[in-house]
Amino acid sequence: MTSLPQVPPDRAAAVTQALSRVMEPDLQRGLVAARLVRDVRVDGNNVSLTVVLTSPASPHRETIERDVREAIAGLGWPSTVEITWTAEVSTNTGFGQEGDVLAGVKNTLAVASGKGGVGKSTVAVNLTVALRELGAKVGLLDGDIYGPNVPGMLGIDGRPILENDKIKPLSAFGVPVMSMGFLTDPGQAVIWRGPMVAQALRQLLHDVAWGELDYLIVDLPPGTGDAPLSLSQLLPLSGAVIVSTPQEVALQDVRRGIAMFEKLRVPVLGVIENMSYFVSPDTGARFEIFDHGGARRAAEELGVPFLGEIPLDPEVRIASDNGRPVASRGKDDAVAGPYFEAARGVASEITKLNAARPDPLPVL
Ligand SMILES: Nc1ncnc2c1ncn2[C@@H]1O[C@H](COP(=O)(O)OP(=O)(O)OP(=O)(O)O)[C@@H](O)[C@H]1O
Ligand SMILES: [Mg+2]
Repeated sequence: MTSLPQVPPDRAAAVTQALSRVMEPDLQRGLVAARLVRDVRVDGNNVSLTVVLTSPASPHRETIERDVREAIAGLGWPSTVEITWTAEVSTNTGFGQEGDVLAGVKNTLAVASGKGGVGKSTVAVNLTVALRELGAKVGLLDGDIYGPNVPGMLGIDGRPILENDKIKPLSAFGVPVMSMGFLTDPGQAVIWRGPMVAQALRQLLHDVAWGELDYLIVDLPPGTGDAPLSLSQLLPLSGAVIVSTPQEVALQDVRRGIAMFEKLRVPVLGVIENMSYFVSPDTGARFEIFDHGGARRAAEELGVPFLGEIPLDPEVRIASDNGRPVASRGKDDAVAGPYFEAARGVASEITKLNAARPDPLPVL
C-alpha cells in the first residue's frame, strides 16, 4: 500500500499568522492587517520577510524588529530570520482643508513660532537635513519672504533656473531648497503687503519643480501674520511644528500660535523647546538661561505633543553661520541628536494624523 505524500504544513502562512499580533504603534493596527509585512518566504528553517515602516524616520523600528523576531521565534522552529526594511510614507489627503495638494508632495508642514528669533529657521533647516539623513525624501521652502535666512544656513548661493516652465530648486545636503533669497538681491528691502505675500508663497510652492517628496518643510516668518494664513489657504498642511524658547512671554505666543492653527484647521504636530538649557563645556554645569520646561508644560496643558528640547549650544549657531547645519553630521553626533529626535517625532505624528483622517469620500 502506498502512503499518501505528507502535506507539508504551510510555514509561510504560520509566520504571517504569528506576525498578525505585532502592532504598528502609530497606526495602532496590526502590521499584517496594515499590509506592512511582505514577501514572507521560508526555506527550511530560515525565514525572510520585508517589513514596511511608515516612514524612514519612524521612531518605532527597534520596537517593531523586537516584536517581529519574538513572534517568529515563538513558532519554535525558525533558526534564522532575515528582515529587509523599507518605508512608505502616507499622504495627507487634505481632509477638510483648503487648496490642492502639490502633485508628488505627500506632506507639507510648517515650522512656526509666536515670537521672532526663537530658532525657527535653525529648527526648520536641521529637521529637514535630519529627515534626509534618515532616508526620507524632503524639500525645504523658505517661506520667510521678509527675511530669508535659509540660503545662508545651508551655504547656498546662486539663482535657480527655469526648466520646462518650472523653477528648478537649488540643492544642498541632498535637499531641494527654494527661497525668496534666491530671487532678490541680498540686502534689498522688500515691502510685502498681504496679497503679495500670498502671491509670493503661491509661486514658491506651485511654480517650483519639487519632484517626489515625502515631506516639504516650510519655514515661516515669526508671528501670526499673513504668511501662516496664506499658506494654509494655498494647500492642505499635514501640520505645524511650533518652536518656542522656555520663558513665559514666549509661551503666551505659543498659545496664540496653537489657537491660530486650530482656527485654520491645521493640526499642531507638536512644540519644540529651543535654547532649553546651556551646559558649560568646561565644568559640565547646567544653566537654565531662559527657564526650562515651560514649553513641555504648555504643550501638555494644550493637549499637543511635545517634540523635545534643544539646548543652547554655540556650535549650533556656528554651524549655521558656516552653512553646514549640525544635522549634516549625522544622527550619532551629540549636538545633532535632539534634531533627529524631533524629526522622528514629527514623522510619527504625521503618520498618526494621516491614519486618523479618512480619505475624502468618492464623488458619486
Ligand atoms: N539651539 C541653539 N543654540 C545656539 N544658537 C541657536 C540655537 N538655535 C538658534 N540659534 C541661533 O539663534 C539665532 C536665531 O535663530 P533663527 O534665525 O533660527 O531664529 P528664527 O526664529 O528663525 O528668527 P526669525 O524670527 O528672525 O526668523 C541664530 O543666530 C541661530 O544660529
Ligand atoms: Mg527665521
